[in-house]
Amino acid sequence: MSEITNEIKKRRTFAIISHPDAGKTTLTEKFLLYGGAINQAGSVKGKATAKHAVSDWMEIEKERGISVTSSVLQFHYEGYCINILDTPGHQDFSEDTYRTLMAADSAVMVIDASKGVEAQTRKLFKVCVMRHIPIFTFINKMDREARDTFELLDDIEKELGIATCPVNWPIGSGKAFKGVFDRANEEIELFSDTRKGTSIGEVKKVSVHDKAVDELLDPGQKEHLLEEIELLDGASAEFDQELVSQGKLSPVFFGSALTNFGVQTFLEHFLSMTTSPLPRKSNAGLIDPMEEKEFSAFVFKIQANMNKAHRDRIAFMRICSGEFDAGMEVYHVQGGKKVRLSQPQQMMASERKMIDKAYGGDIIGIFDPGIFSIGDTLTNSPEKFSYEGIPTFAPEHFARVRQVDTMKRKQFVKGINQIAQEGAIQIFQEYNTGMEEIIVGVVGVLQFDVLKYRLKNEYNVDIILESLPYEYIRWIENTDLDLDRLTGTSDMKKIKDLKGRPLLLFVNSWSIRMTEERNEGLILSEFGRS
Ligand code: G4P
Repeated sequence: MSEITNEIKKRRTFAIISHPDAGKTTLTEKFLLYGGAINQAGSVKGKATAKHAVSDWMEIEKERGISVTSSVLQFHYEGYCINILDTPGHQDFSEDTYRTLMAADSAVMVIDASKGVEAQTRKLFKVCVMRHIPIFTFINKMDREARDTFELLDDIEKELGIATCPVNWPIGSGKAFKGVFDRANEEIELFSDTRKGTSIGEVKKVSVHDKAVDELLDPGQKEHLLEEIELLDGASAEFDQELVSQGKLSPVFFGSALTNFGVQTFLEHFLSMTTSPLPRKSNAGLIDPMEEKEFSAFVFKIQANMNKAHRDRIAFMRICSGEFDAGMEVYHVQGGKKVRLSQPQQMMASERKMIDKAYGGDIIGIFDPGIFSIGDTLTNSPEKFSYEGIPTFAPEHFARVRQVDTMKRKQFVKGINQIAQEGAIQIFQEYNTGMEEIIVGVVGVLQFDVLKYRLKNEYNVDIILESLPYEYIRWIENTDLDLDRLTGTSDMKKIKDLKGRPLLLFVNSWSIRMTEERNEGLILSEFGRS
């Protein structure tokens, strides 16, 4: 095996997703602790620096105390090289959050045991399902009063439409939490709160058939556990690696990230149940990192102005095959020419670190002189293929943009187009008019403020945003449709994107259904093709 293939084989690249406060950051911290990447849990996010630790690239983030950006963390564990793609957990997250999932090979979903599936998880989850990537569930905060375990699993299955397979099973919760029962080995992993003790807890296991168990559990707890296990064995889906790999069955784990319980067990199972980077689709067929020796990558995120003094842009790319060397020249497929990839960096919690080498599976940020767009491919393969584009995700908030000073039209058009190119916002036009009326669509409302702020600060343009009542956007898949003859509902609005493709805006989901019913053969899609 070549050195490059060997390196790629070690890679595991996953996105971690959760509803805010479910414990994503805490779990990430504990992962890093096992990898020795940080000496003390808490370095990723101390309370004071916490929510804006990753970057302070925009005043808006500081003002609101949240991080709009996502980061990538890398750590090593037992011969593996693990990349965690963090996603902003704030409610006002952006389309970037979705795009991050396109760069991951699997996803870890963190759920608060007292809450179950929450709105934000549902949305992110849809993207994982669309990509058929393996999804692992970590049900967190078992040291607190939790909801009934069967109910929690039911919730995941119903809300997210995926089968679940508990790898372990909790024994009690809150003050009565005793640990988890490992179904494969029939062992109980005893709960110990390592919060204040040694950072990496010692895992104590005892067979469920061992007499000692009667003393370790509260009266009735053992009977209750055995009953639940019996019920579970009869009711739940059996573990099936194939289904896990296809994203149809989610292995479920229980634990408590804060007390460092169940984290190592989860990590080890996760590593054994996931694979190194798999082939990805391109216009020249599947590109297998085990066969394609040349470097190839695609851009999934562009971030502007991380360094305000320089007004630079960073293009984040996911390496799919081969080896990356700092300063190397590669072919930019969409631009049609060779470019030098300079100032490569990886995000490490609060700092950016320069790197020399990276491999298929890794994520790097490259200085972008303004030539890259989301979805672009870079490669040194003689085939010059391009990876399948990144879909456009449906914005949920829309506003009409008006300029305060119409004399600054040129700056306005330039600014808004550049910001759209970075993928922070989507811009549309009225269906029957020109560029005069611009409609902006965003995934999270915070992006409206980002737009206003950036146009003012970077382009010296003031705008007024007039919010529109639409919440749903649908792309029209039919290519032979006469839009003028489409019979929609009275609240429907026809718009087009910058490529002139028609789209429909709706106030509610009922209108979408009505429009579909009224126009036979009409195919509406929630994801736009790039
Ligand atoms: P997020 O990234 O998903 O938003 O969640 P984060 O890790 O920041 O955790 C949110 C809160 O939940 C934090 O408390 C954190 O300490 C707590 N937490 C995380 N995991 C567990 C767990 O397993 N058990 C319990 N009991 N709590 C957990 P906080 O009060 O907001 O912050 P802090 O003062 O603890 O830092």
